[in-house]
Amino acid sequence: MQTIPLHPEVAAEIRGITMADVARDDNAYRAVRAAFEEHSVLVFRDQNVGDQIDQIQVGYSAKFGPLETAKVASLGEGTPFSILTNIDKDSGALVPPTHKEALRARANQLWHTDSSFRETPALASVLSARTIPGVGGETEFVSMRATWNRLSDALRAKLSNSYAWHSYAHSRGKIDPSLASQREQNALPPACWRLRWRNPVNGRDALYLASHTYAIEGLPDKDALALIDELTALATAPGHSYEHTWRPGDFVMWDNRATMHRGRPWPDNLPRYMIRTTIAATDADGLAEMRPPRLAA
Ligand code: OGA
Ligand code: MN
Repeated sequence: MQTIPLHPEVAAEIRGITMADVARDDNAYRAVRAAFEEHSVLVFRDQNVGDQIDQIQVGYSAKFGPLETAKVASLGEGTPFSILTNIDKDSGALVPPTHKEALRARANQLWHTDSSFRETPALASVLSARTIPGVGGETEFVSMRATWNRLSDALRAKLSNSYAWHSYAHSRGKIDPSLASQREQNALPPACWRLRWRNPVNGRDALYLASHTYAIEGLPDKDALALIDELTALATAPGHSYEHTWRPGDFVMWDNRATMHRGRPWPDNLPRYMIRTTIAATDADGLAEMRPPRLAA
């Protein structure tokens, strides 16, 4: 296996081992898992697997832990596949920019980490490009470990033992107040997590923050929102991101504990179709330490 860094702070391309190898072979899995813990974003190119693609994506993902099922009211609901697209399933036509899926794409264009609003947050996401617009539609990543290291000692000390609230309705509300339906809000109540996620394999700390974050325990709302904005700006400052330009046959996997990502816009008249599988975090991934003390099991 070769690991080729793609940016000084985050992301590496894996060569010499395929996703299919990982799905069927524990040694391949262990090598890729170690690279995942180290580089936070892994890029696989040229995975030309034809109609085996869904099976390989699930088989690969399931090696890393329990799979999430796609959210209520989302494309793919209840299955391991979250579908992100502007193609209408029934008509095959592109949806208009006011359509729910187009608005969801815009919400994905806010810097975030996946599933921090869930009862169990995500360890990792695996995204595969099925239809690429050819213009725009990149996916951009930053290291929240590098962000942590750029904080002042005082802020690091404070955030190490601070807890923040995350909500799906909050991030969707930034695009359109009615984007998260009542049904979605009922299914996805807010969740509270420590602002520092410590990786149990290498001890490295990361700031755990997302577009979903709306409150910090012990801070007035206004101060919390200002701090969240300031930290997001620090994390995503120019020069700190790896931007992935998709090619057919690409898969990208990221560590939701240690990165933020965002989709980039593309022209409304071009189709884009992406499929994500998501791996839930477990206590072995450092989740136990993330729970606020009074909610600890
Ligand atoms: C995701 C996501 C961005 C993109 O799949 O979780 O945020 O570029 N995707 O589609
Ligand atoms: Mn995402």
